[in-house]
Amino acid sequence: MRLAVAGIGNNISALLQGVYFYRELAARLGPDDGLPGIRRRYIGGLAVDDVALVAGFDVLPAKIGRDLREAVFTPPNNYPNLGADVPAQGVKVAGGLTLEDGEVRGHAEVVAELRRSKAEVLLYSLPTGLQWAAEAYARCSLEAGVALVNCTPEIVARDPQTLAAFENAGVPLIGDDLASHLGTSVVHRTLLRLLQDRGLTLASSYQLNFGGNEDFRNLLQNGGAKLQSKKNALAQGPAELDLIEVVPSAGYIRHLKDNKVAILNVEAIGWGGTPVSLDLKLKVQDSSNAAGVIIDLIRIAAAARRQEFGGFNAAAAPLLKSPPFGHWPDEAAGAEAALEGLLTRVAAE
Ligand SMILES: NC(=O)c1ccc[n+]([C@@H]2O[C@H](COP(=O)([O-])OP(=O)(O)OC[C@H]3O[C@@H](n4cnc5c(N)ncnc54)[C@H](O)[C@@H]3O)[C@@H](O)[C@H]2O)c1
Repeated sequence: MRLAVAGIGNNISALLQGVYFYRELAARLGPDDGLPGIRRRYIGGLAVDDVALVAGFDVLPAKIGRDLREAVFTPPNNYPNLGADVPAQGVKVAGGLTLEDGEVRGHAEVVAELRRSKAEVLLYSLPTGLQWAAEAYARCSLEAGVALVNCTPEIVARDPQTLAAFENAGVPLIGDDLASHLGTSVVHRTLLRLLQDRGLTLASSYQLNFGGNEDFRNLLQNGGAKLQSKKNALAQGPAELDLIEVVPSAGYIRHLKDNKVAILNVEAIGWGGTPVSLDLKLKVQDSSNAAGVIIDLIRIAAAARRQEFGGFNAAAAPLLKSPPFGHWPDEAAGAEAALEGLLTRVAAE
């Protein structure tokens, strides 16, 4: 599966290293064995290690012109080395889109590179807050006929005009904002649902997130889109949003590197008005948490493109914080049913 990537940050380091990590592991296992940390070994006939990075874009001079393998280990990236044998990819990072005097530069070059590389999917993975860039890369993707996966909170798939344009062109558009593998949003929503299921009343709740990667540094200044997206994720659950405080980046703590820490608090009212208090600390490798979901989103996008299924695909909805059309079921059964729908269509091809 031919993948182009925009923004060679920690997410891409986790993805590229992970593909080789699982390739080595899969070689030692039977074809039907499960892989640790992977939801589905195959989606639409595509295995995790079928992914090949064929083009990459960035704007950091230290990354441009380097082989993708070197670029993912270039600071400020600080995702750990997984120890997998990642060879040189034979793909040099190209200069990405820039904004100069209000004008987007580099559109023709990015479209040409997408076509030259015969990419099937473009993964948009830039720092949060660059709405202009998300829109501009979407235009490149559409013109080149390459499926787009937006793993950031920028509004792309939720924009009705953009979605219609992708639909009409038969090009898949998957977004917006991936819901991390075991991220704060999904844990928070599950706790709030548990409260409701057991018949307790929510009094107040908050989530604080902090970490030591560029994402957390950036979110201190540009957290608006992420805050909204996290609220969208919680709005898919049962609780009143005005009882919940969300802080996307409560701090950048350098020595945490790519680890993210989330503190969750829930205050509730039980029998006779007596209080129930719950505090939970979640600590994860932040970009593994992204890559574990990206691997499914890009395979859904590629499978959909191969069968000319343009626009959004319901199979992706449970894996996103802000899918188009608002609310989607996030229960495992709903997710599996949607995925089965996609797989059935692929099988029928
Ligand atoms: N668990 C997670 O890590 C998670 C979950 C959901 C969403 N996200 C989102 O994914 C995105 C990427 O995260 P990351 O940790 O890899 O970020 P990162 O900061 O490590 O990487 C971003 C990369 O984009 C590059 N870039 C900046 N402007 C560019 C441009 N115009 N064209 C091309 N490249 C450009 C930067 O130089 C950098 O290499 C963020 O928006 C983040 O909020 C992450």
